Amino acid sequence: MTSDAADWDAMYAERGSIWSGEPNAQLVAEVTTMTPGTALDVGCGEGADAVWLAQRGWDVTAVDLSGVALERARGHASAAGVEIAFERADLVAAPPPPGGYDLVSAQFFHLPDPPRSQAYRGLGAAVAPGGHLLVVGHYPSAHIGKDHPERLFTIDEVVALFPGWQVVTAEIRERTAMHHGELSDLVDGVVLLRRDG
Ligand SMILES: C[S@@+](CC[C@H](N)C(=O)[O-])C[C@H]1O[C@@H](n2cnc3c(N)ncnc32)[C@H](O)[C@@H]1O
Repeated sequence: MTSDAADWDAMYAERGSIWSGEPNAQLVAEVTTMTPGTALDVGCGEGADAVWLAQRGWDVTAVDLSGVALERARGHASAAGVEIAFERADLVAAPPPPGGYDLVSAQFFHLPDPPRSQAYRGLGAAVAPGGHLLVVGHYPSAHIGKDHPERLFTIDEVVALFPGWQVVTAEIRERTAMHHGELSDLVDGVVLLRRDG
C-alpha cells in the first residue's frame, strides 16, 4: 500500500470514529428508489453507506485503502447483521473489474488530477450496462476542502468523462450537517449517470 494508505490509517486512528455513522445524504436521495442489485462502495471509510445499502438488499462490495477504516466498517456491518464483502485495495493502482456492478458509488473520493480522471473512468468501466455511477464530492465553491483545492472537482468535469451516458442528476446541493465533529454548511456536487446498453 502507498504512503496515502498510511496517511488515511493515521487520520482514522486519531479518533474512535471520524464520520457520522449515518449514510451519506446524497446516496440516500439518489438510491432509495433504485431496485437493489450489486453495488461497489468506493472508499467506503467506516462503512455507513455500505451497511445502508446492504440493509436495503444490495449485494455490496466495499473497498478502502485504510485497514483501520475497514476494521471499523466490518464491526458496523457485524453489529447491523449484514454481509458485506470488504476489500483493502488501492482503486487508483488497481481499478475494479469491468462491468461488474449495477451501482458504483464514490462518496467524497477526492484525488488530485492526475490520477482523478483516469481513476474515475475506471470506476465507470465497473458499471454494468443499465447500471449507475454516483459521484458525490465537496464542491469547489465550498469552504470544506479548500485546504486541498487540487482534489476538488466540478459536476461538469465528471459528466464530461462519460460521453454517451444518460445524465440522471448533475446538481450542486447545499446542506448543514456534522463534518469532522462540527456543524458545517456543506456544498455537494452530485452526479448520477446511467450507462445505457
Ligand atoms: C473522505 S473519505 C470518505 C469515506 C466515505 N466514502 C464517506 O463518505 O464517509 C475517503 C476515503 O477514501 C479512501 N481512499 C482514498 N484513496 C483511496 C484509494 N486510492 N483506493 C481506495 N480507497 C481510497 C480513504 O481511505 C477514505 O476512507
